[in-house]
Amino acid sequence: MPIRYDDAARTWHLTGAGVSYVVGLGDGLPRQLHWGPAIPDGAVPSLVREWREAYSFDDRLHTGAELLGELGPQFATPSLQLRHPDGAKGFAWHYRDHSIEGDRLAISFTDRDLALTLHYRLWDTGVLDRWAAIEAAGPVEVSRFDSAAWTLPHWDGYRLSHLSGEWAGEWQLRRTELPVGETVLGSRRGNTSHQANPWIALDDGTATETAGTVYSANLAWSGSWRVQLRRSAQGRVSVTGGAGQEGLHWTLRDGETWTTPVYSGLFSTEGFGGVSRAWHEHLRRHVMPTADEDAPVLFNSWEAVFFEVSEEKQLPLVELAARIGCEQFVVDDGWFGRRTSDNAGLGDWWHNPERFPRGLTPLADAVHKAGMRFGIWVEPEMVNADSDLYRAHPDWVLHQAGRDRTELRRQMVLDYGRPEVAEWAFTWLDRLLSEHPIDYVKWDHNRPLTEVGRPGADDPDRAHFEHVQAVYDLKDRLRRAHPGVRIEGCAGGAARVDPGILRYVDQVWTSDNTDAGDRVNIQYGFGQAYPARAMGAWITDEPSGFNHRTTSLRFRFQVASAGVLAVGGDLSAWSEAELDEAAAHIALYKELRPVVQHGAQYRLGDPEATALTGVQYVLGDRIAVLAFKTPWHCNRPLAPLRPAGVPSDSRWIDEDTGETHWGGALNALGLPLRWTPADWDSAIIRLRRVE
Ligand code: DGJ
Repeated sequence: MPIRYDDAARTWHLTGAGVSYVVGLGDGLPRQLHWGPAIPDGAVPSLVREWREAYSFDDRLHTGAELLGELGPQFATPSLQLRHPDGAKGFAWHYRDHSIEGDRLAISFTDRDLALTLHYRLWDTGVLDRWAAIEAAGPVEVSRFDSAAWTLPHWDGYRLSHLSGEWAGEWQLRRTELPVGETVLGSRRGNTSHQANPWIALDDGTATETAGTVYSANLAWSGSWRVQLRRSAQGRVSVTGGAGQEGLHWTLRDGETWTTPVYSGLFSTEGFGGVSRAWHEHLRRHVMPTADEDAPVLFNSWEAVFFEVSEEKQLPLVELAARIGCEQFVVDDGWFGRRTSDNAGLGDWWHNPERFPRGLTPLADAVHKAGMRFGIWVEPEMVNADSDLYRAHPDWVLHQAGRDRTELRRQMVLDYGRPEVAEWAFTWLDRLLSEHPIDYVKWDHNRPLTEVGRPGADDPDRAHFEHVQAVYDLKDRLRRAHPGVRIEGCAGGAARVDPGILRYVDQVWTSDNTDAGDRVNIQYGFGQAYPARAMGAWITDEPSGFNHRTTSLRFRFQVASAGVLAVGGDLSAWSEAELDEAAAHIALYKELRPVVQHGAQYRLGDPEATALTGVQYVLGDRIAVLAFKTPWHCNRPLAPLRPAGVPSDSRWIDEDTGETHWGGALNALGLPLRWTPADWDSAIIRLRRVE
C-alpha cells in the first residue's frame, strides 16, 4: 500500500484498498486529517486548512489527535500518562523524523529524554494497524500508554455496537446511542474476558446490516484492556484504546523501548455485514496462522466423561468418533497427575498411571489407526495448591506480599513473567509433544488473574504485561518447535478471544454454553468480529446442562455446522440411529466446509428480532445457507429468508434437490426452505451458480 509524504504540508497519506488515512503535523501535534474513502493526493493540503477552520477551540484540541495528550488545555482522558522524576507530566510533541518501509510508516517525536514513535500499516484488506513505542533515556513512570486514538467523521449522531456477556453467555451484541461524555469498555481481569470484547463499531445511527457507513476497531491484546470513547457536546467522537487498567504504574528503564499492542481499525460502506466480512477476511489472511487449511471435525471427550478420563473409557469413544466421521479426537481435562476433579493436579503434567497404565501413546496410536488426529487438553498457566508443582514452587504464582492468594476453580495463576516459569512450561510442553504423537493441543485458561504482582520485584505491575507477552512467546516457540501441531485457544469458554491471541492459535472455543438454541445468538455475536474459521462449535447431548432445553440432533448439528464443527456428546449413549444420523450430518458438513470456513459470511436476520434467521456463506460460485427457526409466537415476524448479493439474472441449482432457481425469484420469494410447525427447526440449502 503506497505511503506518500508531502514535506511542504507535513502530511503522510496512506492509501490503498479504497481507503485513505492522512496524518498531518498542522499545528505541531500529530493529527488524523482524514480516515475514510480514498482521496487523491491533491486533496490532502486542503484537509489541513479545513481542519483548522472547522472546529471550535475545545474540539480542535482533541479532534484528530493521534494520541490524546495531557499538556495545555487538553482535557480528554489522555492516551499517554507519564510522570518524570521532577514531577513534570505529559509529552510535548517535537517532530524528529519519519521512515517509510514498504507499507509501514513510523513518525518519531522527542520530548525531554523520551522518543515516541507512532506506527502505521495499511493492509490490502483496508485494515489500518496502529501502535506506538516509547524509548526512554532515563526513568519515567507510566500509568497509561494506549496504542492509538481514532477520530470519527463529524456526524449528527453516534451509535456504539459492542460485544458483552458473561461465562456461558458471551458474545451478546449491544447497540446503543453513544452518550455525550466518556464511555469506558474494558477488562480488569488480566484476560480479554467473557464480559467484554475489545471489538467495537460506530455508525451515525442509521446503518443497517447491509448498508451505511460503519467504522470499527479491535485491539490485539489478551490481558486487561481499556477502550475509552469520548463524545463532545459539539458532536465529535474520538476513541483511545490500549492494554492495561487504571491503577497500574511502571517505570521505563534507561534505554528501554516499550511497545504497545496493535490497535486495528477499518470502515465499510456496506453496513455492519460489510464490517464483519472485512474483519473476517483480514483475520484469516493476515492474523490467523493456518486459516487457509480446512479445520478438521473434532470429537472432544469432556462432556462425554468429564473428569473420568482413562484409556479404557476413551477407546470405545475413539471407535464411535471415527465411525461417525470425526477427523480429530481430543482428550480433555483429567489425564494427568492426580487430576481426578478440579481440586488437584494442575501443574503436574505427566500421565496418570492408574488411568493410562501404558502411557498416552497407545491411545494416540489407536486414534491414528482409526484415521483421526490426536489432541490433548492442557492448562499451562495454572496450578492447583494440591500439586507437586505448587509444593515445590509456591513462589511461582502471581501474588502480593501479605495478601491472600485467591483461588478460583481451586486454582492459581503461574507468574509467566518469571523466566524460569516460562522455561519450565516450554520444557514440559515440548517434551509432551516430542515424546507422543500429538497433533493438536487444546490450551485452556480457566480463571482471571488476581493479586497480580511479584513480591520483591522492582516494578511489580509489569507482571500484567509480562504474563500476556510470555503466553504469546511460549505459543510462538512451541509452534516453531512443532510446526505440525495445531492449537485451540480456550478460556473457560471465550474469555480470551481477540486479534492478539488469534495470531498464535488455529481456532478458539466460542462458549462453554453449547445449547444450540443459545448458540444461534452467541454465534451471531461472535461473527460480528471473528470468522467462522475460528469458531469452534460443538454439538452436545440434550437436554442442555445450561437451560435444560431439548432440541433435535438435526438442529444441533446444523447450528454447529456454521463454524468449525465438533462433537462433544457421550457417543456411547447414542443409539444406532443417532450415530447414523450424526454420520450423515458430518458428511454433509464436509461438503459445506470449504464454503463455511473460507467463504464470505452474510447474516440473514437478527435472532433477537425475528424467528427465522440464517447465515449465508459464499465462496466462488457456491452458496451455503444454514437457516434456523427459533420459537415463534403469533406476533413475531416470520418473513421468508432472502439470500444476500444474488443478481436477479443469475441462475442457481439446488445441490440437494437438483431444482434450479433464478436469482430474481430467490430475492422476491426467499429461499425455498420448508419449515415444520415446530420450534427449533433448521435447514441447510446449498446452491451452485449455473449461469
Ligand atoms: C473449560 C472448557 O471450556 C471446557 O471445554 C473444558 O475443557 C474444561 N475447561 C476442562 O476443565
